[in-house]
Amino acid sequence: MTGPKAILPASVAVERFSPKQLVLQNWWTTEKLRWHKYILAVGAIRTGKSLGLSIGYTSWVMETFRGSKTNHIVAAQTKGALEQNVLPYLAYGLKLLGYRATYNQSKGLLMAADQVFRCLGAPHERSQDVLQGFTAASTFLDEAALLPKNFVDQAIGRCIMEPRARHWLNCNPGAPSNFIKKEFVDQAINALEVRFRLEDNPGLPESEILAIKRKYPSGVFRKRYVDGLWALAEGLVYSTFDEDVHVVDMDRIVKQRLADRPNRQPFRYYAVGCDYAGGDDALVFTLYGYDHHDHRKTSFYCLREYYFKPDPENGIKRKTHSDMADEMVKFLAGIRPRFIAVDPGGGGTAFITELQRRGLPAKAAAKGPDSILAGIEFVSDLHTQNQIYYDKRRCPNMIREKLAYSWDDKKLTPVPLGGDDHCLDAERYFFSTGFGSNKRSAAIVGASGTAVG
Ligand SMILES: Nc1ncnc2c1ncn2[C@@H]1O[C@H](COP(=O)(O)OP(=O)(O)OP(=O)(O)O)[C@@H](O)[C@H]1O
Ligand SMILES: [Mg+2]
Repeated sequence: MTGPKAILPASVAVERFSPKQLVLQNWWTTEKLRWHKYILAVGAIRTGKSLGLSIGYTSWVMETFRGSKTNHIVAAQTKGALEQNVLPYLAYGLKLLGYRATYNQSKGLLMAADQVFRCLGAPHERSQDVLQGFTAASTFLDEAALLPKNFVDQAIGRCIMEPRARHWLNCNPGAPSNFIKKEFVDQAINALEVRFRLEDNPGLPESEILAIKRKYPSGVFRKRYVDGLWALAEGLVYSTFDEDVHVVDMDRIVKQRLADRPNRQPFRYYAVGCDYAGGDDALVFTLYGYDHHDHRKTSFYCLREYYFKPDPENGIKRKTHSDMADEMVKFLAGIRPRFIAVDPGGGGTAFITELQRRGLPAKAAAKGPDSILAGIEFVSDLHTQNQIYYDKRRCPNMIREKLAYSWDDKKLTPVPLGGDDHCLDAERYFFSTGFGSNKRSAAIVGASGTAVG
């Protein structure tokens, strides 16, 4: 158990706030706007939404509930993200007002004077359970469009008894069908939406604006994160994949590397992603070579794939775990990988145990809420930065899947139209397990090392 500790306020060099940030800070003090129940800061990344909203929120709470002990709900997708991204801003806002904030991490309680902010991560549908029986006077929801709808409804519902309750939400836009867009932006007449564009953060240097635009050259992420639009994911998922650049003759690269680094293996590290197949799905292994544990400092070389699709009707039987492990040993051909990231679903854990029994470093692939989108963003960025290459002869299924992978307009997640996505899944497991690509924070750190999200 850890007791309350002082929270370090975000260190921000503010010369001025933009007019939109000032709206977030002051709307509740003006006759014209204060009747709204909801305030939403929506728009491009790095535009000062969280900071502006935190300052407004803390000043409203401390003024409105001064002198009476009151509970509030503060939430983000995970508690870790909240502690890292939100609490320093709230502490900053509280400091401007002269309050010192303390945080009890084991209880998830941020405290300042009489006010208690219950800090929650809401990664999945069951997250709402912790709110049962809780009474609050306000909510502050960071990245609200990524939270489960039932959690948001429940959190807001917890404040029903408080006539002064207000709800403070911020997010980047998602799909037009997202409930935040539908219910708050489009329908709720008592919701005040403040739209943020890149120029609304006076602290964002031109160089960073250019880096953000370079990082999201086109497609759905460009529309959402740069243009600030609720955009449909449509067309190709990997529009940044360029066959002319990213598909290579790996033998030539390996030969060159061996010439450059005689007496060494061509790549410093090797690791494997594995999409484990239950039933008649394809079983896929993908092998990568790379030189650094920090993805910003290396390129990745997909050296080969193993692709097996059972077809019992045509006599191609499913494999046993023992057969699959034999295939893995053959696939590795003596290479000692740093890890083998296996999808643990649908019986994958038993396969992991079988691999481990043979002394191979197999482990369950890292997953998480939003891990598919975060993983896609991560890999797209590697394409854009020309940091990933595929062997033209040994990765045919991977290349085929990359070229066909498309967004399904009706669903919120991408589905492979006209193909399958087992190699792409194996690749995501490799990056999520070795490089944290299942969390958006990993995906939004550009190869330049500049944090852009
Ligand atoms: N007025 C300002 N002056 C100087 N720096 C600022 C100002 N507003 C915000 N910043 C800084 O700009 C960066 C982005 O701000 P913030 O995190 O509030 O953006 P955001 O819109 O919430 O981004 P995201 O959508 O990626 O969560 C932070 O480093 C923040 O401290
Ligand atoms: Mg933010």
